[in-house]
Amino acid sequence: MKIGIIGSGAVGQTLGAKLVELGHDVVLGTRDPQKLDEKKNMAASLKDWLAAVKNKAKVVTFKEAAVHGEMLISCTHGQISVEALKLAEADKVGPKVLIDTANELDASQGMPPRALASQDRSVSENIQKAFPNLKVVKSLNTIGAPVMVNPKAVHNGDHTIFVSGNDAEAKAKVTDLLKSFGWSDVLDLGDLSSARGPEMYMALWLRLWGATKTGMINIKVQR
Ligand SMILES: NC(=O)c1ccc[n+]([C@@H]2O[C@H](COP(=O)([O-])OP(=O)(O)OC[C@H]3O[C@@H](n4cnc5c(N)ncnc54)[C@H](OP(=O)(O)O)[C@@H]3O)[C@@H](O)[C@H]2O)c1
Repeated sequence: MKIGIIGSGAVGQTLGAKLVELGHDVVLGTRDPQKLDEKKNMAASLKDWLAAVKNKAKVVTFKEAAVHGEMLISCTHGQISVEALKLAEADKVGPKVLIDTANELDASQGMPPRALASQDRSVSENIQKAFPNLKVVKSLNTIGAPVMVNPKAVHNGDHTIFVSGNDAEAKAKVTDLLKSFGWSDVLDLGDLSSARGPEMYMALWLRLWGATKTGMINIKVQR
């Protein structure tokens, strides 16, 4: 499948590399594709990323990524995800499925970052409101990037990932993609307003990270 990733940090690079490995036609969007040498926050330079994926993907603008993908993945700070998708002109690309991986975190006052998520809103709903053409599905925001694409690395994969969204078909497509990464327990939380739950969960995840001193963690919803 053609996949356009909007965001070139740890999440965009990790998902992009896995999708290339699975045989997808991947482009990774960044604001200035000429700046391949610049080290990305918590991730490799895009030059190193391209070498790691053996040049089987391309680094393009946000706009080119939005045009390319049959499915889009938004991987930017939650505070500016709408702004990044405006740069991508995502309003002009038709009814595409977009996976929103974002959290709103504020590290300006030191570690751990403050989770800004609220009972009254979510990044995903903000994106859906700004881009009614897209079929937004919240997922992947509740685990660290390495776990996203390698769930078996934690407790042999026996733990839970969530999807939230207004479109059942879009959630089914995202669930299929998650299963191709190795996820077996995909829990549908409901419509997009349910994304407030996994976004607020970040407050707990950050404390679990602090307590266990590893990002290779997740929760299992026993039922
Ligand atoms: N890191 C993780 O393990 C993890 C796990 C779960 C969820 N998340 C969430 O996933 C999202 C992505 O995280 P990340 O660590 O991969 O990347 P990030 O560092 O949060 O974001 C990187 C992307 O944001 C773009 N960007 C930064 N400022 C911008 C602005 N003002 N306007 C437009 N674009 C801007 C960058 O553009 P350029 O490409 O031009 O540099 C880059 O593509 C975040 O919301 C994060 O909270 C992260």
